[in-house]
Amino acid sequence: MSLRPTLETRLAQPAIEGAGVHLHRAFGFQDPSELDPFLLFDDFRNDRPEDFKQGFPWHPHRGIETITYVLEGSVEHSDSLGNTGNLQSGDIQWMTAGSGILHQEMPQGNTNGQMHGFQLWANLPSSLKMTEPRYQDVKGADIPEIIDDDGTRVKVIIGNFWGKSGPVDGIAADPQYLDIYVPPGVKKTFPVDTYRRAFAYVFDGAGAFADASAPTGILLEKEVAGQEVNIRDLSGNRTLIRFGTGDEVTVQAGPEGLRFLLVSGAPIQEPVAWHGPIVMNTQEELRKAFAELRNGTFIQPAH
Ligand code: CO
Repeated sequence: MSLRPTLETRLAQPAIEGAGVHLHRAFGFQDPSELDPFLLFDDFRNDRPEDFKQGFPWHPHRGIETITYVLEGSVEHSDSLGNTGNLQSGDIQWMTAGSGILHQEMPQGNTNGQMHGFQLWANLPSSLKMTEPRYQDVKGADIPEIIDDDGTRVKVIIGNFWGKSGPVDGIAADPQYLDIYVPPGVKKTFPVDTYRRAFAYVFDGAGAFADASAPTGILLEKEVAGQEVNIRDLSGNRTLIRFGTGDEVTVQAGPEGLRFLLVSGAPIQEPVAWHGPIVMNTQEELRKAFAELRNGTFIQPAH
């Protein structure tokens, strides 16, 4: 087994999207090869309704898939295929924009006004950029959860893990998407297939991800003793950790435990031409998409 190095640790940055939704972006609109096949990751946790209730009114997508995971509150959505739905706490939506979709996503807070959730964009390979759009809502109750003897809990949202299969499949990027809780002080290793690009996103508690290029044992002990450690090795709320190659990652939870997403996928390794919600391979394909938006031929008529 070989430990994946932590190439980079960084905090998600504040951003405003849609009609004025305040969110935090862990990555996106940067070098798309960094986390290929993933393009963007937004953390839209917010406890102030006035900062998210404007939502994401009607907008287009083409050439990507989006995966939305709601933790608190709900997201009402409708699209140009005629679908409408309401994602509740624990639910997942996978949307293949393919050749083109128009949709709106309107977050509603829970009874305390809190809206918590994440949206991940996965790229589509050129052969599937113009595939038929479709989407799938998955209820939280249908997501298998594995509870290990040491109290570690893993929700398998996409992919296969420890003998369980997530309910969302058919995503071109072949992702594995796990929601993991590691109890206080527990050190845990998780396999990640070598061919995958991988990142973790910490959203509750803190912990130290072992770095194959550092004397990990020492750093992990320091963290547990509450001593000062290099920020590179201390991962708290809203932290993105980008891993290098290897076939496993190891983390030690801090005194409050640690909850994070562990996401990986097979790189697509194609040119990326990206403008806003549309991601194609060439500038010409982008121009065509925006021309179609202007002349009303962007989406296929619903049938
Ligand atoms: Co959208």
